[in-house]
Amino acid sequence: MACFDGVGLHALAERLGTPLNVYSAGAIRRRIGELQDALAGLDAGICFAVKANPNLAILQLMAQAGVGADIVSAGELRRALNAGMPADRIVFSGVGKSGEEIAEALRVGIARFNVESLDELHTLQRLAKAQDVVARAAVRINPDVDARTHAKISTGKSENKFGVSIAEARDWFAARQALSHVQLDGLHVHIGSQILTLEPFRLAFERVAAFWRELERAGHPIRSIDLGGGLGVCYRAGEDRPLRAADYAGLVREALGDYRGRLLFEPGRYLVAEAGVLLTRVLRIKEGSERRFLVLDAAMNDLQRPSLYDAWHDIVPVSPGTRPAATYDVVGPVCETGDTFARARVLPECAPGDLLAIQGTGAYGASMASTYNSRPLAAEALLDGGRYALIRRRQTLEEMVAGEQPAHDWATP
Ligand code: LLP
Repeated sequence: MACFDGVGLHALAERLGTPLNVYSAGAIRRRIGELQDALAGLDAGICFAVKANPNLAILQLMAQAGVGADIVSAGELRRALNAGMPADRIVFSGVGKSGEEIAEALRVGIARFNVESLDELHTLQRLAKAQDVVARAAVRINPDVDARTHAKISTGKSENKFGVSIAEARDWFAARQALSHVQLDGLHVHIGSQILTLEPFRLAFERVAAFWRELERAGHPIRSIDLGGGLGVCYRAGEDRPLRAADYAGLVREALGDYRGRLLFEPGRYLVAEAGVLLTRVLRIKEGSERRFLVLDAAMNDLQRPSLYDAWHDIVPVSPGTRPAATYDVVGPVCETGDTFARARVLPECAPGDLLAIQGTGAYGASMASTYNSRPLAAEALLDGGRYALIRRRQTLEEMVAGEQPAHDWATP
């Protein structure tokens, strides 16, 4: 892939250095459009899961397309607002919202809290009362559905920390009149991430739909149903078969076609993963006694997914051309065996200095990066029809250590 969104990647890497995260604005807009088209005719809103890629320029792109935000922290709230997302398009999920975070979200007037425990519900009531505002809330349902994805990103089984059972949610609604400052009139479900089959979605949506009907019959109006994110993407060409947005939307229509309230969706990965690549250079080739290592200048601190989830990411040379195939363990410079992007990967033969693109890194790439091994955070660039914009400069060593200081101001608490 010599070119991405009309931009020559060799020249770009020359100019901005590597490792470098690049994102195609065109590809992101296309994905947003596909989902919006698939949902056309429904009263539906898309809230981008900020955690997938919280860069300001990416969030601005979302905002310009009418997309709101699904946030899980005050930091993400700040980013969404800074990017121009209106507060009434922001929903707040997560099991560990702190009192300060809830208070701040109440102050700016977000659309909805996706509440995940009774304690959180009571905290929300107390803090909304203190501000004399009414919080709009949805119960996050844990439907006990196996998303058939990696265990670490599966969230909808009853053993997971997320949401509450339908039985518990039923009790919340029965007692909702006691909540003077919480309008409990929404349902929320998110069963996991990188989901490649319709069945888990079908099960979850059917359970939520049945519960919505039961609640309506019991006199509890449900004004919004948030169906979460989770749509998978293609990380391995020819192997991963992502769902089509139209089929996913068809499922929504089947389960909730007669629902008259607002439907919300919280895609993260689907909108940005395939729109991003991590550009990296080959530092050297090391012939080990058992394996041949391709040592890159990117490492697990730049892209954690392979070491954390054994995730596959396609890796391709930026220069086209025919070269014989070779088998490598593709690794980074970090001092851990886990710093491995791929084992026994067949690639066109590489040489030091070659530029490679690790694909599918637009989601949960830069957002999960760290400075482990004191490696500065990589730069990020947005590409759009032949032009590029630097949207995060490479962290300097000074920036990396800013905030640290010698222990000379000793005190007792
Ligand atoms: N809504 C909620 C409440 C979530 O917890 C998540 C993701 C999403 C929406 C967006 O899910 P998506 O559409 O992106 O699948 N770091 C992992 C993924 C963690 C996902 C966490 N929650 C990875 O790199 O695979």
